[in-house]
Amino acid sequence: MVTMTSPRSRRVSQRVGAIAESATLKVDAKAKALKAEGRPVIGFGAGEPDFPTPDYIVEAAVEACRDPRNHRYTPAGGLPELKRAIVAKTARDSGLVVEPAQVLVTNGGKQAIYEAFAAMLDPGDEVIVPAPYWTTYPEAIQLAGGVPVEVLADETQDYKVSVEQLEAARTERTKVLLFVSPSNPTGSVYSADEIRAIGAWVEANDLWVLTDEIYEHLVYDDLETGSLPVLCPELADHTVVVNGVAKTYAMTGWRVGWVIGPKDIVKAATNLQSHATSNVANVSQRAALAALEGDLTAVDAMKVAFDRRRRTIVSMLNEIDGVYCPTPGGAFYVYPSVKGLLGKEYDGQVLATSAELSEYILDKAEVAIVPGEAFGSPGYLRLSYALGDDDIVEGITRLQKLFA
Ligand SMILES: Cc1ncc(COP(=O)(O)O)c(C=O)c1O
Repeated sequence: MVTMTSPRSRRVSQRVGAIAESATLKVDAKAKALKAEGRPVIGFGAGEPDFPTPDYIVEAAVEACRDPRNHRYTPAGGLPELKRAIVAKTARDSGLVVEPAQVLVTNGGKQAIYEAFAAMLDPGDEVIVPAPYWTTYPEAIQLAGGVPVEVLADETQDYKVSVEQLEAARTERTKVLLFVSPSNPTGSVYSADEIRAIGAWVEANDLWVLTDEIYEHLVYDDLETGSLPVLCPELADHTVVVNGVAKTYAMTGWRVGWVIGPKDIVKAATNLQSHATSNVANVSQRAALAALEGDLTAVDAMKVAFDRRRRTIVSMLNEIDGVYCPTPGGAFYVYPSVKGLLGKEYDGQVLATSAELSEYILDKAEVAIVPGEAFGSPGYLRLSYALGDDDIVEGITRLQKLFA
């Protein structure tokens, strides 16, 4: 008999039932659905380059499809030649020297983050998560049994946490610091000195770091920055690096990322992956191999366009009364404060929160934007500027008119 408390009546598990839908994908899906209905929606929601994957990478994938070697299972942890290419690329781009046994090839950076936390955390272990945070981090930590502890940094500190704030959040249960620079959602870039100071605090307190380097090549204005385990070599045995091809080579749909870390962590994460998903699709791995073996021409060209769009969007947003948009140093997001627009009446309705504001904007101006609530910091909006120059101007002009 099924009673209210029987195992059968508890339909979705508590662990998975607690996961929220990705707010960024939700906004993007809504914008795409409205577009499909013929509405002239401009979407600032998506976190992906608007450029196609470079031809030489696509050609390598086409060739890989025809090669029967790629029609079979391959080692769960990744093709050996791709692991070697990741080792070489990492030494070339960030200066971190590792061995292939320290690399696990994953289905994108997302799976890398999930598997890394699963390999590092025991129930109750705390992870310090600087906020505004990318929406996936707290979910991945909780799924792995960990407890995310948020540390909020606002626009007055360029959305970057200080060592004092980290220290105030540290407890006996703290195991890992989550670190990301350039950041999604704020685009903030930590300077080399700031990274060294944070690294010294991590080392002094016997913690681990998971550092997400997916936007490493999108740093503007020649800012002086670097990779945390390179700037803080003493942390090498307690650092896990996450990276991937998605943002650098306009390859979000190919789903290739990786974990780099100490061998025991990587081995454990590889065991997990061997039961969860086995090897990443071989055609995608071959495409990633071609990407990494090539040069950085494609990302350099994208960077020029992103930099131009960054300047346009920052200056246009700052022309709106009630909006304050700092100039981000990296990635392809701006994160303006819209606190000056809240609590006012628009068309007979008072908009109290950034979530209500973004719904109002979608409704009235047909512009899709993700509210700060998705990133643990209400009162802000995140706009991706990885869309065409004309769309950016048109979209922000609509906002300027809406709030004139
Ligand atoms: C900060 C950050 N890390 C990791 C990822 C994961 O990228 P992917 O899973 O597409 O490789 C993203 C994607 O938006 C991101 O913004």
